[in-house]
Amino acid sequence: MSEPGRDTRLILSDVKVRELAALFGTPLYVLDEGHFRTRIRRYREAFRQAWPECEVTFASKANSTLAVLAIAYEEGCLIDAASEGELRAAIAAGVPTHRCHLHGNNKSFAELEFAFEVGVGQIVVDHFVEIEQIFELQQTYHRCPDLVLRLAPGVDPVTHEKIATGQADTKFGFNIANGAADRAVGVMLGLNLPLVGFHCHIGSQLLDSEAHYAAAEVVAEFAIGQWRRDRFMARVLNLGGGLGVRYLDTDEPPAVEDHCRRLVDGVVEGLGGFNLQPKLVQEPGRALIAESGVTLYRIGAIKTVPIGDGKSRTYLAVDGGLSDNARPALYDAKYSVRGIPADAREEGGEVPVFDDLAPVLDRFTVAGKHCETDTLFADVLLPHDLQVGDYLQVLCTGAYNSSMASNYNRFPRPATVLILEDGTPELVQRRDTWDEMFAREILPQRENR
Ligand code: LLP
Repeated sequence: MSEPGRDTRLILSDVKVRELAALFGTPLYVLDEGHFRTRIRRYREAFRQAWPECEVTFASKANSTLAVLAIAYEEGCLIDAASEGELRAAIAAGVPTHRCHLHGNNKSFAELEFAFEVGVGQIVVDHFVEIEQIFELQQTYHRCPDLVLRLAPGVDPVTHEKIATGQADTKFGFNIANGAADRAVGVMLGLNLPLVGFHCHIGSQLLDSEAHYAAAEVVAEFAIGQWRRDRFMARVLNLGGGLGVRYLDTDEPPAVEDHCRRLVDGVVEGLGGFNLQPKLVQEPGRALIAESGVTLYRIGAIKTVPIGDGKSRTYLAVDGGLSDNARPALYDAKYSVRGIPADAREEGGEVPVFDDLAPVLDRFTVAGKHCETDTLFADVLLPHDLQVGDYLQVLCTGAYNSSMASNYNRFPRPATVLILEDGTPELVQRRDTWDEMFAREILPQRENR
């Protein structure tokens, strides 16, 4: 994906940034449909080349805007829903329920019931009580979605500790190390539940495939173990998502082709020559959508402050913040940021843009407008002559930005615009309205009010 010398991320031209900001306001999430479709096609093709019997599931937590889910489905993806809400989003986007998988480490009985009711294709089972609940629902409904067992393979990936999930010390899935996973298979087979295979997801934003390789090997070995013990033949091995993307110019995630090959190598190693021919599944979120999106902000204040030793820091305050991108605050996430002048500035009769001028760069700290420190991007290099009213374009924000947005400080969440394949921008999620902001409130009635 990040071939040397080629930037795979969506980057809007300065003209486009100004046009979209004028049409839709800021902050604004922008997604490019053609870019997203190309990413999905490339991922699916890379996987198919490595292992023909395969499926790609879009992890909808990365971005569950309905337009995004509809495109992912049209491109042949299954949809991974981590909650009833995400499942309802997929249904609202027109995805047939048999193409949806339900995840969750603590699904409520009502969530499971909803999944049975609508007929999801698969449930990823996470703990023992859930097995009993599914059994109960099967008795009621006289049918049951395919079940896969989530495994904790005990593989430590190299990523931020808050997005690592594969190690043994995790709330997710059945531990292989302590025998819980073996017991779970026994219980499910004993109850005659439609267990079809195994699942793992070891973490997110992984910039090399070694942990994926190791986990794939462990899961395949585990599957072989179940064949030896119970003659249980796994038909599906779902190896989760987690392939990293290029947030910074210096990030070099593996090309998806290399990643898929490495993952399949791990499976082949784990199968150890056994003639088990499972369908392999991956469920990437970020790797499919992150690089297809950018966020646009407008600079509203510029302030230079002393920081000691005769040095200073210049803050650019933008019209969004941790409510539209919580990732810097949560995970110390870093982003590539570009500055765009509000209007093409006249210089010597020309109409220059920063890009053409090879601008002189300075270090800035970009802050949000929340009522706390709210640093979005510390010490980023931007054109030195940025002014109030100019724009910032933040790259690679298609994943885990809009889906994690909040109304903190009563900020309306930003709109999302989709750039269609013919270049037309189309609003696919509008900004929160003030009516919506207060729609849930029940102000207790008192005499003096
Ligand atoms: N499958 C499962 C079971 C997952 O838990 C996840 C992500 C994925 C697939 C997709 O992972 P991806 O391919 O997107 O890395 N909010 C965090 C990311 C948390 C991801 C949690 N699970 C962030 O902003 O980085």
